[in-house]
Amino acid sequence: MEISKNVNQETSPSVPDTLQKYRDYVITSFLKSVVPIVIDSGSGATVTDIHGREYLDCFAGISVVNAGHCNPSVIAAAKAQMDKLIHCASYLYHVQSTADLAEKIAQIAPLGLTKTFFGNGGAEAIEGALKLARLYTGKHEFIALQGSFHGRTWGTLSISGNWARKKKGGPYAPGISFAPAPNVYRSQWRNDPEECARQCAGAIEEVIRFSTSNDVAAFIAEPVMGEGGIIVPPPNYFREVKKVLDRHRILFIADEVQCGFARTGKMFAIEHYGVVPDILVTAKGIADGFPLSAFTTRPDIAAAFKPGDHLSTFGGNPVSCAAALANIQFMERENLCNHTSAMGNYAKSRIRDMIGRNPHVGDVRGLGLMIGIELVQNELRVPAAAEAEAVRESCYRRGLLIGVGGVDGNVIRFQPPLVISKSQIDQALDIMAAALQEVAPV
Ligand SMILES: Cc1ncc(COP(=O)(O)O)c(C=O)c1O
Repeated sequence: MEISKNVNQETSPSVPDTLQKYRDYVITSFLKSVVPIVIDSGSGATVTDIHGREYLDCFAGISVVNAGHCNPSVIAAAKAQMDKLIHCASYLYHVQSTADLAEKIAQIAPLGLTKTFFGNGGAEAIEGALKLARLYTGKHEFIALQGSFHGRTWGTLSISGNWARKKKGGPYAPGISFAPAPNVYRSQWRNDPEECARQCAGAIEEVIRFSTSNDVAAFIAEPVMGEGGIIVPPPNYFREVKKVLDRHRILFIADEVQCGFARTGKMFAIEHYGVVPDILVTAKGIADGFPLSAFTTRPDIAAAFKPGDHLSTFGGNPVSCAAALANIQFMERENLCNHTSAMGNYAKSRIRDMIGRNPHVGDVRGLGLMIGIELVQNELRVPAAAEAEAVRESCYRRGLLIGVGGVDGNVIRFQPPLVISKSQIDQALDIMAAALQEVAPV
């Protein structure tokens, strides 16, 4: 990957200096894909580098700043809290902003999920949810989906169904089985999403029977898969899954770390499916960039934690909680879910119009502003990973930041801050179309 070299040549001395410090002092296991710009500030859907060049940020810091970079309401709430108290161990003492946020989440979470534990990052919250599921059910195994991603701790990698993230870290935890993801585009039921959902949900029954010891505590899934390539299950999928889980007394953990907080046009993506999970895990968009994560559950499940069972020193941090509360209030006040749905539908149809006929565009899919464009080499759907990476590089040179994902690395991810305007979407899609034309001309 030549990106860093290009930028070293075209930018002022201070940029290589920062890049060099990254190389020398920061553990960047992802150095290959670190975009070689030095970001100085952000506002709404844009970021600006230290030379004053503005970029449209259509990856939102990996789907985090849903309410926009440096949202004034969030900043004001965080600043006010910082002037009073930054830390005091929210699990040893009572903190106002932690309590207020927990109450707010109880009001907006799917019905019955009223008790929340706060952590700092997504993986930490997933780990806590797994632990709670085991304590509550007295069972020990887990089922996850092929292609899923749940974090980079040992436990969360163990339940992630993608060797590209797990490689060389094994062997992983025992007692974990994987079921097929309802990836309609790559299934044999491409023209029948409902049947794809039925078959994939039915496969969980087979997994329980043939790959577990019938000691499954929980099934965990992202309602919309992010890193796995923006896989949107058909509308009947989770209802079918729930039937299987209920037959075996298996809990359903919804990992909404990436798809939660209005990203898909509903506060939580699982609301699209008419199913209530037993544990809802959130992070990323919860506090518009302040580090915070949470898992939220029913009181009877939460009661499985006895004193001393679970704690996090920084969990429920007063500043992050104050920021998160202001963030959610902003989303409600501005009707961000409606805006996201409208912008998402607009972006998807424009993408289909602009580049849908390019034979390298295999599929355009998404919910709200969680949109994936799967690039393929031909009609046999051979993944075009190098092309996806080249499109990303061309976009950033043209002033647009996007993501790339998918188990084969061939899905362009369009996940901007949800406050993005129609004209900014137009601008972003014009750049993306030009980049695709450069990489894969028609
Ligand atoms: C669905 C999902 N779960 C969990 C995680 C892990 O979150 P974190 O990186 O905050 O630990 C991620 C991160 O991308 C994610 O997308």
